[in-house]
Amino acid sequence: LKNPRPQERSLTKNIRMKAVQSNLFVAFFLLACFASLTSASDPSPLQDFCVAINDPSSAVFVNGKFCKDPKLATAEDFFFSGLNIPKNTSNPSGSTVTAVNVDRILGLNTLGISLAQIDFAPYGINPPHLHPRATEILVVLEGSLYVGFVTSNPENRLISKVLNPGDAFVFPVGLIHFQFNVGGKSAGALAALSSQNPGAAIIANAVFGSEPSINADVLAKAFQVDKNVINYLQKQFWWDNNN
Ligand SMILES: *[C@@H]1O[C@H](CO)[C@@H](O)[C@H](O)[C@H]1NC(C)=O
Repeated sequence: LKNPRPQERSLTKNIRMKAVQSNLFVAFFLLACFASLTSASDPSPLQDFCVAINDPSSAVFVNGKFCKDPKLATAEDFFFSGLNIPKNTSNPSGSTVTAVNVDRILGLNTLGISLAQIDFAPYGINPPHLHPRATEILVVLEGSLYVGFVTSNPENRLISKVLNPGDAFVFPVGLIHFQFNVGGKSAGALAALSSQNPGAAIIANAVFGSEPSINADVLAKAFQVDKNVINYLQKQFWWDNNN
């Protein structure tokens, strides 16, 4: 349009505005589509619980750990050594778990990953336990381990296998699992876990060795046995093989 009259000028402006508006609409629509793929939930807990306090001046803990000034980070913050040395397994379980979590490698903070070294005496057991915050993948370095986990209700299905050196096995987050040394000699494994602080709840220790004890009547009813059986179990010393 050459030299349009004022009315025509405002008409072309109007058409251009409409085009811009519809482009913006398409852009917002695409943005909305992609935004639905992002996560908007609360961050996962990095410890068993984190009770809120109303007075910020007495706040000491965050979810996880405080961060060091990145400029001051050194190689030592990301380093751990000695996983080639078998740990002492002379204990009632005949196994020792050495957690290489954020307490041992401070640089793991916020990264969602950690490691564990597991050593076994002949016929040693890493007793039934679960990790509240992590899936585990274990690789056998030495010996033979009979390992398994149990699915949740209503199936309660045992999924198990004998592993040899070089074999890897997955224990899904929160499910009860165990490793038993069936090789007749010492065994060793390394496990990677999907949390900087996976936590470990050992079933027998939690149920029969809690402090204070769970009422014996509660457990007798829950396990459908005589109370003497519960008293006997509660008197046992429940070794914690986590180190
Ligand atoms: C291993 O631990 C047991 C029990 O604490 C102890 O008696 C033994 O001396 C330890 N062995 C070695 C080689 O440190």
